Formats: sequence, structure tokens, C-alpha cells
Amino acid sequence: MCRIFAACLKDGKVSPILKTGLKRLEYGGYDSAGMATIDNGNLEIKKGVGKIDEVDRIVNFESLNGNIGIAHNRWATHGYPSITNAHPLTDCTGEIAVVHNGVIENFLELKEELIKNGHEIKSRTDTEVVAHLVEEEVKKGNDLVKACLKAIKRVEGSYALAIIYSKEPDKIVLIRKESPLYLGIGKDGNFASSDPVAFVDKTNLMIPLEDYELAVITPYYYKIYSIKDEKEILRNPVEIDIKPQMIEKGGYPHYMLKEIFEQPISLYYAINVQRLYLNAIAEPMSRSKVNFLIGAGTSYHSCLAGSYMYSKISGLATIPVVASEFIQQYGNTLDPDTSLLLVSQSGETADVLKVASYARMKASTVMSITNVVSSTITRLSRLYLVQQAGPEIGVAATKTYTSQLLIHLLLALEIGKKREKINENEYNEYYTKIRSIPKAAEFVLKSTDQKAKQAAEMLKDYTHIFYLGRGINTATAFEGRLKMLEIAYIPSSAFSAGESKHGPIALIEKNTPVIFIAPKDESRKVILGNIMEIKSRGGKIITLGTNDDRELKEVSDFYIDMPEADELITPILYILPLQLIAYYTAVLKGLDPDKPRNLAKSVTVE
Ligand code: AGP
Repeated sequence: MCRIFAACLKDGKVSPILKTGLKRLEYGGYDSAGMATIDNGNLEIKKGVGKIDEVDRIVNFESLNGNIGIAHNRWATHGYPSITNAHPLTDCTGEIAVVHNGVIENFLELKEELIKNGHEIKSRTDTEVVAHLVEEEVKKGNDLVKACLKAIKRVEGSYALAIIYSKEPDKIVLIRKESPLYLGIGKDGNFASSDPVAFVDKTNLMIPLEDYELAVITPYYYKIYSIKDEKEILRNPVEIDIKPQMIEKGGYPHYMLKEIFEQPISLYYAINVQRLYLNAIAEPMSRSKVNFLIGAGTSYHSCLAGSYMYSKISGLATIPVVASEFIQQYGNTLDPDTSLLLVSQSGETADVLKVASYARMKASTVMSITNVVSSTITRLSRLYLVQQAGPEIGVAATKTYTSQLLIHLLLALEIGKKREKINENEYNEYYTKIRSIPKAAEFVLKSTDQKAKQAAEMLKDYTHIFYLGRGINTATAFEGRLKMLEIAYIPSSAFSAGESKHGPIALIEKNTPVIFIAPKDESRKVILGNIMEIKSRGGKIITLGTNDDRELKEVSDFYIDMPEADELITPILYILPLQLIAYYTAVLKGLDPDKPRNLAKSVTVE
């Protein structure tokens, strides 16, 4: 989950641009950061341990001269965070520098061979071996591009690499396999990044590199080669669908709060995804013998909620599965009659991509929902839907979660119609309800914001918080809990409320906070019983419930009023206050909700 950024300008210093780009990529990893430029034929490197601003205060990145350079944010996979292990890494001569996102699986064997050949390996990273492999090929008389084409054939694993060589100061070589890498083609120079957000203010033209491709950029041109046959590939740039102003925080203190309040807009865009693509995905799902819904983390929670939507609206049984478990659990059942709907906002989660490749091998139908156009998952899917939620910079998924839920609901409607489980009337009625969701979300965000702050004040010092829901809102409980534990670091547990008496209730003591998601739906009756079980053992009852539910209000210690809503729409609305509660709790604890410790925005290693 590192991030790389490279730039070569026709004129001017590249270091300020590299620094700005790194800041935009900070969500990807930040236990160390570094930059290398070439100035008058000399390679200069500055790097350090910590977040970009912390490192910059020590090394002053902008003191680097030169119009060409590479930069890196690190989220350690090999080698603990240290200056030696920070990227860029160099060869023995100090003339070749490399930055890398991914994992080199055969680096130990390569390292031994290189040491035997007399190389001095300075770091404990897997990446450094690439610099030495290129050094060996340059020593054989190859130019940088040829040397990289030869060297990369020795490397196994996943990589997005940027490589510079002080003796060829106008070129940057980029190489991609499994880890995302995009070229940015601009009028003042060319760029390359793990995520186009890094150069979106410099150009609106990008080229996604495919697996086993090597590109070379100079300030004036770009070329792409297939690593396998070393033949040139001609590919034109495409328009980037991200606008610069979408990147900045828009006046909010954190990207996460901005993205929470962006949900009325992102939900509006989700409603307006192209019906053609909805239909295209609904078709195989409605015909398949088995349908799996697969994701990781928050995206898995959307699959869990989605499974209730597909069964209740379209009578379709779907199996929600955690991506990292899927192959072990169901791999052997896959066949051409099976459909898999993979959900991944980044489209780069390694566990999800692995399932996609495996299922393709079994000739199953692989489809996906993602938020990133041209992400890897889209290239592994027979059909895919882009959520159009806009870039989500905060590490914690918020707007992309509710957008995924809405797309599941739309798909369930399409399938319900195809399977004749709902008639034209019911279909249109549901669409009317769906069209009111953005407005309802705006109302909930405004009307619960104050209560969320109060709840955060009340919860911030607890050492364990419970989230309980029933039916489709079991997923809401899971997602609300994930938000709290991943950004406020408060250990939390989530269960289907019916499960609480099968064990978890043993943990309830006087004043233990238990958050109930309890809309007026078919589980409302039984969840009251669950609340009473907890209450009678001294638990502190915090309830999200319909605003006129007097009975629930009476038994709750703290109540958040929610508007009436269709049962299948409640997960979209009820997660909003839980996102806010987690956010405000993190801020009250002096934490940075945008960059939670140990986490990265997309987990591109298994
Ligand atoms: C959610 O807040 C986390 N950031 C994490 O669980 C995330 O949902 C998970 O890593 C899946 O990411 P994806 O949707 O990009 O595949």
C-alpha cells in the first residue's frame, strides 16, 4: 500500500510538484517518505521516517533541484520504517534510484545472487534488488529502457516501479504488474502515479498501464512497451474523471468529514449510474445457479446488506463472502453457472483481485462494482459498474459505502423485474423511494450531527463499545463498529442482536455502552427484547430509532431520532450518524481520522 509519484518537466523545479503529489497520496501510506531528483547529471535523494510534513521539516524536499524526479510514500511490507529502508533506494553506484509499490516475492533469492556478484545491499527492503538488477544490465552496455526490460524479467511478485538513472537525465522508466500505475500526459511535462489524484491539477489526460507493461516518459514524449516481447504498444490518453477542486478538503478539517457530508451528492450519482450497465450485470445474476457477493472490510459489509436486498426484492439467494476467505471456502464450487459480484471501491484490493483471477480460471462470470475508473478490477471483470462517488481520500470508507449499498438496491430492483418478482408498478414505486434518498441523507446528516457530537463526548473514554442490529442492519452494526475501531481505536464488537444472548451478553456490565440500530422494520419487535436483556444487566442503551418510537425512547439512555424509511433503505441512512460518531470520537481523542495508524486506503498486498 505504498504510493509512487514521478514527474519530468520541460522547465522548472520538479521537487515542489513531487511534494504536492505526495501529499495527495498520503492516504496510501506514510510511515516514511522520500524523493530523488537529477540535477546536472547528479542524483540527489532526500528521505526520512514519518509523515510527509514531518520528513519535509527535516529534509526540506524543495531544496532538491532538477526538472525530473521520483517520490514515494511508504507503508512497510518488508523492513521496518527507517531511513535506510525508506524509498527511493539506489544501486551500488548511486546513479540509479527506484521507488516501488508492491511485493517482490523472490527478492531473497535475487538478493543472495546479487551479493554473490559483489553488490552491497544496504536496506532490508525487497525493492532495493531492482536497482541492482538494473545496474547489472547497464554494466552490460544496455541503455536504461533496455536494462529495465531485461532486469524486470527476473522479478516475481507485484510492482509499480519508477526508475531514474543520472546518466540518462531526461527519462523515467515506469513498470507495472498488479499494483496500479497511471501516466499523466501534460503540456508542461509528463507524470506517473499510483493514483491520478497526484497529477490531476497538471493534466486531465491519463494512460492506465496494464500488467507486464513498461513505459518511459520524458518531458516531451512517452512510449509503452510490452515486457514479454519488448514490442512498442501504441495507446492514447483518456480523460480523467476527477476535477482538481474535488481533491482539496473543501473547507472541512478532514477529508473524512468532507466525504461524510458529500453523501447526498454521491448517492445522487449512484442513482444515476447508467441503467445499461445495471441491466448488463443484473442479467447474469438473475440467471446464475449461484451468486456470490465478495468484498473486504467495508465493501464486504455492503455485500452483507446487499444479500438482504436481493432476497427480499428479487427472491434471489446471494452469498456474501469475505474476499480473503473466498477461495478456501468456495473456490471448489465455482463453475460457468456461477456469478461473482466483486465490490471494491479502490478496485485494487489484492484479496479481491485474487478471487477475480481465480474465478476467471473457473469460467465463472466475474463482475464488479468499483469507484475507480480503469482500476485493475475493471480489467479483470467481464462487466463492471463505476460508483461515480468521486475520489475518497479518507482512509475510512464512508461515501463509497452508502453508494455501494444504493447500487446493490438498484441491481436488486433490476433482477426483481427480470425474475418477475416485482411488477412495473412496484418497480416504479421503489424507484420513487430511491430518488428521495439523497434528500433523506441530507436531512439525517443535518439533524443528527449535534447528537453525534454528544454521543462522541459520551463514548470517547470507553474501552469497549457494542453495536447491535438485526436483519439488514446487522451490516450497519458491523460497519458502524469498523468505523469506530479503525479511526478512534476503541475496541468494539458488533453482532446480530439475536446473537447477543449466545455469548456476547457475558461482557455486559454496569454502564457498558451498547448501540442499537432499531428502525421500525420487521425486526423492531424482537430487538426491543434484546434491548431489555442488555438493560436489565446494567448496559447503557444508545439507540438509533424512528423519531416517533416512544417505547424505544423510554428504554434508551440516549436516543438518536431517525426519519421513517423503507427497511431496505435504512442501512444507507442509519450508518450516517455512526460515521459521524466515530469521526467526532477520533477528533476528541486528538487522532487524525484521515490517516489512521497501520491502515492504508487500499490493501494491495495479501
Ligand atoms: C474501510 O473503512 C477500510 N478502509 C477498509 O476496510 C476497506 O473497506 C477495505 O480495505 C476494502 O477496500 P476496497 O473497497 O477498496 O476493496
